[in-house]
Amino acid sequence: MNDVAYVNGEFTRIQDARVSVLDRGFLFGDGVYEVAAVLEGKLIDYEAHLSRLERSLREVALGSPTPLTDLCEIQRELIARNGLREGLVYLQITRGAAARDFGFPKDASPTLVVFTQEKNILAAPAARTGIAVKTVRDIRWARRDIKSISLLAQVLAKQAAVAEGCQEAWMFDDDGMVTEGASSSSFIITKQGVIVTRPNDGSILPGCTRKAILALADECGLSIDERAFSVEEALDPAEAFVTSASTFVLPVVSIDGDPIGAGIPGDRTKRLRELYISFARVSAT
Ligand code: PDD
Repeated sequence: MNDVAYVNGEFTRIQDARVSVLDRGFLFGDGVYEVAAVLEGKLIDYEAHLSRLERSLREVALGSPTPLTDLCEIQRELIARNGLREGLVYLQITRGAAARDFGFPKDASPTLVVFTQEKNILAAPAARTGIAVKTVRDIRWARRDIKSISLLAQVLAKQAAVAEGCQEAWMFDDDGMVTEGASSSSFIITKQGVIVTRPNDGSILPGCTRKAILALADECGLSIDERAFSVEEALDPAEAFVTSASTFVLPVVSIDGDPIGAGIPGDRTKRLRELYISFARVSAT
């Protein structure tokens, strides 16, 4: 299961898949990626992921080795070959292999790698129990709107959270305002029933799940305020949650050890998760 990968035009067993040690993704983190969920063998919210990939590529002046319109078929074929029913498809494009030099190489072709991962998204225990969050300084670069494969800051943030028994890190800027999770978008629901989340102002990744959730909020009787919120405000909301393609919607039940609300998943968060799951099924292609 999941032992087939796609590398530069070929489906190959993952243990035989090879990328050069001179690949700029390996040497410089010079590349972009996407992660899309799979339910019942189908890609979820695919258009949103494809258009973000297109934008990431454009922003770093990177071409795709394959027409973007062919990527969907490659991913579907990989899902079929791996017999994947529920999980994730990971896709990465780097600037390819060339003698190590910082400027763009003249003769390298981009590297495309795709693989799948089985994951229990719908029945994830964290959806029932909620997750604990730790806050950490956001030490990332200024182009967080690009889904870059350079993820060292997020790796360190997540590890700091894991080391304290938490499942996610919420990063905050020098002004004490939360940017987002190490690998998810961050939300609070105020006691007045307003969803607060940071706007797509370049300081966060424009989450595909975030976008869908904001479109569904109305059905939950919630209004939206797209503004930055502080760590202090995040410690005392009615509810808090995170969203991502790999987890959908997860309730946050504590931040830095302080319980959120009653310290159990909030009802409106649970409803948003249900609504997102319905949306995901409808969007499946
Ligand atoms: N991460 N913010 C960051 C920094 C992320 O890495 C992610 C996703 C998100 C949520 O975006 P979306 O809803 O489009 O998945 C927000 C993926 C899942 C990952 O790196 O594995």
